[in-house]
Amino acid sequence: MTRTLLIGAAGTIGTALAPLLAARGHEVIAATSRAPTRPGQVQVDLASGAGLSDAFGQAQQAFIFSPPGFARHDEILLPQIEAARAHGLRKVVLMSALGANADEASPLRRAERALEQSGLAWNIVRPNWFMQNFNSFWLQGIREHGVIALPVGDSRTSFIDARDIAAVAAELLTRGDLDNCDFDLTGPAALRHDEVAAILSRETGRAVRFQDIAPEAMLAGLLEAGLPRDYAAFLVTILGYVKAGYNERTTDAVAAITGRAPGGFEQYARDHRAAWTA
Ligand SMILES: NC(=O)c1ccc[n+]([C@@H]2O[C@H](COP(=O)([O-])OP(=O)(O)OC[C@H]3O[C@@H](n4cnc5c(N)ncnc54)[C@H](OP(=O)(O)O)[C@@H]3O)[C@@H](O)[C@H]2O)c1
Repeated sequence: MTRTLLIGAAGTIGTALAPLLAARGHEVIAATSRAPTRPGQVQVDLASGAGLSDAFGQAQQAFIFSPPGFARHDEILLPQIEAARAHGLRKVVLMSALGANADEASPLRRAERALEQSGLAWNIVRPNWFMQNFNSFWLQGIREHGVIALPVGDSRTSFIDARDIAAVAAELLTRGDLDNCDFDLTGPAALRHDEVAAILSRETGRAVRFQDIAPEAMLAGLLEAGLPRDYAAFLVTILGYVKAGYNERTTDAVAAITGRAPGGFEQYARDHRAAWTA
């Protein structure tokens, strides 16, 4: 039975990935920043590095990423990669983000490179923006005001269903034939945010509209919501890439790896309707 450490096991990807691995006979070691409440959990603080050695010491392979809130992704990821190397893990799958490799100097790309050069077997997946952001980060605006307010204009994004990212990760963690490869992961189609709003309106039966806002207004809103300034600025920067069209393209990686086409936005909205209507 392979012991697989999941960083952020309670998060969007982790909760979808854990049952897929368990179904394939893996023992999941669930990393959490909180005090463990059940067997199989291990406490780590990715910000300070506390608990990392113990967590990676229990595992044979790991799924890692830098959780929301941190702009210096390298500071969060390099200690994870080093712990994996020190404990001789057989493979690490890193969830990065689409476009991270466009800039060799970006903190995320620095972490990608460190994994590629670690001597470990590795995969890097670079997903586009998650569909699930609409039932998490952007949920409050939709529920309370019927508005998706973002500085992205009429750009298109090939949003991906997080369940497809988990399905890809499960394949990579249970197969060896794709080792040492990176994959850009997208959904099946690129949508404008007013098209997203129209789908959400149809699925929920309540009016949802898209409002294009200035980057400065986005930054002010994120700071007011309590996000650290560097992370808020990072988000506004990458939303600028969205507006410039860098998140439009689609890839066939999900289908090539899992053997089935990625889910579309309508299906996602149907499956998550309760989030917006409750
Ligand atoms: N959202 C997008 O559109 C998008 C697009 C491309 C890439 N990504 C990548 O995906 C990541 C988000 O993945 P996700 O949605 O699965 O994450 P998520 O749902 O936000 O979950 C992250 C988990 O990490 C744990 N965590 C947070 N801070 C921690 C800390 N200091 N130490 C240890 N654990 C900590 C938390 O669990 P506990 O409460 O149990 O500690 C949390 O549930 C992003 O950060 C980015 O790297 C996201």
